[in-house]
Amino acid sequence: MTDKPIIHILGAGALGSLWATKLSKDNRIVLLLKKIDEKRSHQFRFIDKNQTTTITLPCECSTPTPQDSRPIDTLLVFTKSYDTLNAVQQLRNRLTPSSRIVLFQNGMGSQQEITQLLPGNPIYAASTTEGANRPDSQTVVYAGKGETWVGSISNQNNSSESEKVLSLLSGSGLSVSYNSAIWEKLWLKLAINCAINPFTALLNCKNGELVGQPLFDANITPLCHELERVMKVNNINKNADELEALVKEVIEKTANNVSSMLQDVRAGKQTEIEYINGYIELVAKNCDDTFPTNLVLLKRVRSSCKPHINTGT
Ligand code: PAF
Repeated sequence: MTDKPIIHILGAGALGSLWATKLSKDNRIVLLLKKIDEKRSHQFRFIDKNQTTTITLPCECSTPTPQDSRPIDTLLVFTKSYDTLNAVQQLRNRLTPSSRIVLFQNGMGSQQEITQLLPGNPIYAASTTEGANRPDSQTVVYAGKGETWVGSISNQNNSSESEKVLSLLSGSGLSVSYNSAIWEKLWLKLAINCAINPFTALLNCKNGELVGQPLFDANITPLCHELERVMKVNNINKNADELEALVKEVIEKTANNVSSMLQDVRAGKQTEIEYINGYIELVAKNCDDTFPTNLVLLKRVRSSCKPHINTGT
């Protein structure tokens, strides 16, 4: 009989499946899925470099059922930012005051929604540069090794709990470190997403094809000035020139990537724009300021990002 910790994973997309696979060596992983078959297991191919492994993991229903009602100890959440609140709410009857939750969402806003929903729970946010994709529903490709930072975002900031979270996540063998300034990490990632994702979605191009396009070249500097101001409101000091240099560095490093927003557009899915540039607009409203370049990008993505035909590029 094993006493390995049980980790529930909500959102079995590319990143959720990557973490589930890597954590399954030292933990009992349970995937929380909307639809489960009678075998109550989920199978996929996991490709890491040239090696393909078949992964089979037990699963439970992510919506309330009498069968799946055991309390959840540790919950890792990989849903899209706009689905997170509803998805965690569906599990509420399985969450106890000591259930720890780690949020891996893109953008900003879903983290605050969860800390407001569960003010008494230990809640963590993670920011990761691990790369994974799902070429089809049965296959997960580990596309690029990255790093993950995790830090507490709740009032229940207790150091032994944080050590536990770090040790659980580190059991994946992925590179994970604790970051007590996790909001700063999240804000920087948000700024980078604000400055890359909408342009790639509007121009239907890879990250590396942005520089040199009039829409990007004309707007990146004013946008970085707005991002500097909005970050200052949130006590993060990063000047516009540094931000622009960072954005261009990320563009270079991820030149061949199709951004997550453009992937969504091409797949005909809802984008996370409301939790990226939309979050900046929310801050603007709350602090009576205006961020016009951001607002134009937000409006253009809202109105014109209808799915593109996937050309396979
Ligand atoms: O959202 C994404 O795709 C990524 O965060 C980034 C940095 C824009 C690279 O593609």
